[in-house]
Amino acid sequence: MFKTDLFQAVQPQLPDSYKHATDEELIERVQERKRQLGTDLFIPGHHYQKDDVIRFADETGDSLQLAQVSANYQEASYIVFCGVHFMAETADILTNENQAVILPDLRAGCSMADMADKRQTERAWRQLTELFGDSIIPLTYVNSSADIKAFVGRHGGATVTSSNAKTMMEWAFSQKKRVLFLPDQHLGRNTAYDLGVPLNEMVVWNPIEEKIEEDTELEKVKMILWKGHCSVHENFRIDHVNHLRKNDPDRKILVHPECSWEVTQASDLAGSTKYIIEQVEKAPAGTKWSIGTEMNLVKRLEKNHPEQSIESLNPEMCPCLTMNRIDLPHLCWTLDEVYAGRLTNQIKVDEKVAVEAKLAIDRMLKR
Ligand code: 13P
Ligand code: SF4
Repeated sequence: MFKTDLFQAVQPQLPDSYKHATDEELIERVQERKRQLGTDLFIPGHHYQKDDVIRFADETGDSLQLAQVSANYQEASYIVFCGVHFMAETADILTNENQAVILPDLRAGCSMADMADKRQTERAWRQLTELFGDSIIPLTYVNSSADIKAFVGRHGGATVTSSNAKTMMEWAFSQKKRVLFLPDQHLGRNTAYDLGVPLNEMVVWNPIEEKIEEDTELEKVKMILWKGHCSVHENFRIDHVNHLRKNDPDRKILVHPECSWEVTQASDLAGSTKYIIEQVEKAPAGTKWSIGTEMNLVKRLEKNHPEQSIESLNPEMCPCLTMNRIDLPHLCWTLDEVYAGRLTNQIKVDEKVAVEAKLAIDRMLKR
């Protein structure tokens, strides 16, 4: 648990009966609750969720798709979000007041989202606008708290996902000369580089030391990258790519753009989880892949495509630990709570924050 608001919202102890139940019992119970709750219940599931959980999702998707379904799905009173905290917050912001968004385990946070907090961002903005004047527009990856989205919305910026980062960054550069990109330096760098911004026109803002890390001529700076990263994707390293190129040169390397610039540049293809799935689905039998993304997704692709050879770019990779907090016992318990009329683990974004965050999200969904 990392987020300040999560420290206050303590995850209730899962009753022992759920811990001791067999998978068969839990599966039967979840199916029964889904049947009983009918269209009053909607379960979105991110591609990184475990198979045990994703099998019950009414809709699966990458972050952009899940934001879109949340915005469009107005019938269900209960949205049990199988993903991480920032996704549930986005769903709460986009759904109407009669809908409750519930996260089966409050410990399902995101270490990257926790790398930018409200206080750090306000302080950075003050210093950066002193240095660069009114020439900066903020963009934030959706993997950020509602507070950060609100900050961005308030300052005329927008959210981005790995599916639309390029479009959104082009838009941002049509508004202002410089972009402050939060909180993932890698997605920011990879996207800006694809748009033709050279590395020497990008700097890293260190929120702990409160300074720009490089000693660069300020006038040249176009991209200010927040010093954050994904603790899962940082485990794909350039030596993994080099090793494969040498020992298995026919294997295609396909990575998520949360990987570093070096890894992304050296790979054959890079894109969101949806893009990764599509590349594998349309590839001919016999294609060999090495995939640089979260392990639950890589394993699922491997299982669903026995006609291809699929492995992780890092053979020692683990799943995203926070995504993995959502498991069958927590899902079953949550549905039992909903059925009993209790809104346990509801994610409710403060109204003022939600209004400003929605400005940033809507600017993205409009494009
Ligand atoms: P996408 O599914 O949008 O590619 O995002 C990956 C991710 O890290 C979600 O936490
Ligand atoms: Fe956050 Fe990385 Fe896990 Fe995605 S994979 S939820 S960015 S820690």
